[in-house]
Amino acid sequence: MSDSKVYYITTPIYYINALPHIGNAYTTIVADTLARHHRARGREVVFATGTDEHAEKVLEAAGREGVPILDFADRLADGFRAAWARLDITYDDFIRTSEPRHHRATTEVIRRMMETGDVYRGEYEGWYCVSCATFFPDVEGETPTCLNDECRKPLERRKEPAYFFRLSAYGDRLLEHFERHPDFVRPEFRKSEVLSFIQSGLRDCCISRSSNGWGVPFPGDDSQQAYVWFDALINYLTVTGWPDDEANYERLWPCDVHLVGKDILPRFHATLWPAMLMALGVPLPRTIAAHGFWLSKDRKISKSQGGLVSVDELAEELTSMVEVERDVAYDAVRYFALREMVFGQDAEFSREALWGRFNADLANDLGNVLNRSLPLIERSFGGVIPDGVLDPDIAASVQAAARLSTERVDAFDFRGTLEAIWESIGKLNKYLDTRAPWNLVREADLQPAKDCLLTTCEAIRRLSVLLISFIPHAAMEIRSQLGLDPVVSGSISEELAGDARMAGVKIAWGKPIFPRIKVPKVKPETSAPPTQPAAKSEKQAATVSYEDFAKLELRAGTCLSAEPVEGADKLYRLMVDLGSEVRQVVAGVAQAFPAAELVGKQLVIVANLEPAKIRGVQSQGMILAAGGKDPVALVTLDRPVENGEKVR
Ligand code: MSP
Repeated sequence: MSDSKVYYITTPIYYINALPHIGNAYTTIVADTLARHHRARGREVVFATGTDEHAEKVLEAAGREGVPILDFADRLADGFRAAWARLDITYDDFIRTSEPRHHRATTEVIRRMMETGDVYRGEYEGWYCVSCATFFPDVEGETPTCLNDECRKPLERRKEPAYFFRLSAYGDRLLEHFERHPDFVRPEFRKSEVLSFIQSGLRDCCISRSSNGWGVPFPGDDSQQAYVWFDALINYLTVTGWPDDEANYERLWPCDVHLVGKDILPRFHATLWPAMLMALGVPLPRTIAAHGFWLSKDRKISKSQGGLVSVDELAEELTSMVEVERDVAYDAVRYFALREMVFGQDAEFSREALWGRFNADLANDLGNVLNRSLPLIERSFGGVIPDGVLDPDIAASVQAAARLSTERVDAFDFRGTLEAIWESIGKLNKYLDTRAPWNLVREADLQPAKDCLLTTCEAIRRLSVLLISFIPHAAMEIRSQLGLDPVVSGSISEELAGDARMAGVKIAWGKPIFPRIKVPKVKPETSAPPTQPAAKSEKQAATVSYEDFAKLELRAGTCLSAEPVEGADKLYRLMVDLGSEVRQVVAGVAQAFPAAELVGKQLVIVANLEPAKIRGVQSQGMILAAGGKDPVALVTLDRPVENGEKVR
């Protein structure tokens, strides 16, 4: 990887017949993560995405709506821009194939290729899939269907004068390029499909069709326009300013990474495109990285197949399930996508898996580190991070996560990167379990508590630098809570070098960034007939069976903080440490006890109470107190036990 050149990264340009769903959002999320990560490593990045507008199906979609094609295209392109804005995608250029700059580049490519004889006039006769915008010259039968397994729509017979690209001349040179550049296609296992496609013999490729007024006109032949895939691939050059802006072209090209889905790798990105570049005498991109498909119940999620889930829908659902900032909900979807999919392979999408990751990784693992340290600093050190000595094991585990992050992002192993970061978060949680700073703050010598809290805050600061490319808003929120500038000013290596920087920093602990979500219960397929009401009312007598009592999960938990709930003078929002997790509990004891009296006390919590929203604040349990509606005494334990210990 050369460091002087701008790191240039692209996504495929998207067909605008519908708005993005989780499948194509994934490509963009990966590209954005890569772009952010390389910027965080101190490199200048140009990240381009955009829309592929000249497809026949786009014209058809506009026709169905009865809208002029340009208005339709503007609306859809704006829809894509808005969708990416909600996900905070940090692209530098948004290319539309209907733009003059792209028509200029495409025309020039064709003109040059006609000059060299790489493009020639002939006649095309064969089958064409409108939906996939792909020609299939070899299909047999009277009414064949598309060869793409996910499509299978009827093919149309086409016979027309057409221009061809001399692809057949490039097979050997392509194979040689693969041989010489082992990193050309990533991950490695995706290469074999490409090689066998090339080895099976390449035919010349039809690159024009009769003009329908919606495409790049063929230079010198008004009856024809460029085939949509031929023009679409050229977008990667258009963005550089080719052929007019030589300086910018030199700055960006060759492209560092074309990110694509596996369906558009063998035929288009790893064969046609490099052959086109060879014909033009333009160097090939460094790497084409292909990911697998998101499947819903084993089928590809796609615009034409249905089963669509948009990231907006998922984020919206999360915000309705839990008190979480909208940007953070989008981050949670990003996290899920990057963590769940092994880059290159297919992955199954389900909401349950998203919610599971949210609770386990974000609310529990990451959330607990914050929720167990920051309220304690607030309470015991006036909100100022104390000075101390860093724990060498924790410091080393964060450095290891940083090293692995860089290595794994370079190998497109996003899941592995997050695993490395989460391993370090796991170590930090274990460290907090064993040190138990909430007990150390009661000791006469406060130094061990100070060492522990400084170690934790410094580790979180460093982890926030690694996390910012993956979950940007949550990472910025973490930094704000730590009392830091949410924007990281230095490069990763600068931020992770040197001594601890957190001592003396005034924190700004607010509320949990990722409260646990209440996962909806799956409704039974068939509902049982109602049971006899008489039997039920007998059960509601003054006594309960032991089985019923045993259903209650009572646990010991230390109250870490108590804050008034806005607009409700009886309520506190408590953070309670239950050992393996910190819960937010709303308790109606504010008039009976000053906050200071609650904090540090080990209370008894009803831990399996259904979560509820009280005055808009999520409550995940209940504390026990005597005195009914007007509590007079708290239920505590007469000697300390491990937090989370069951109470019977
Ligand atoms: N317009 C072409 C690309 C031209 S690039 C010069 C195209 N557009 S697309 O909108 O149909 O698809 C864009 C990307 O979304 C592709 O990389 C495709 O693989 C990806 N995905 C579409 N459905 C997908 C899933 N269900 N899962 C993961 N990605 C998939 O192709």
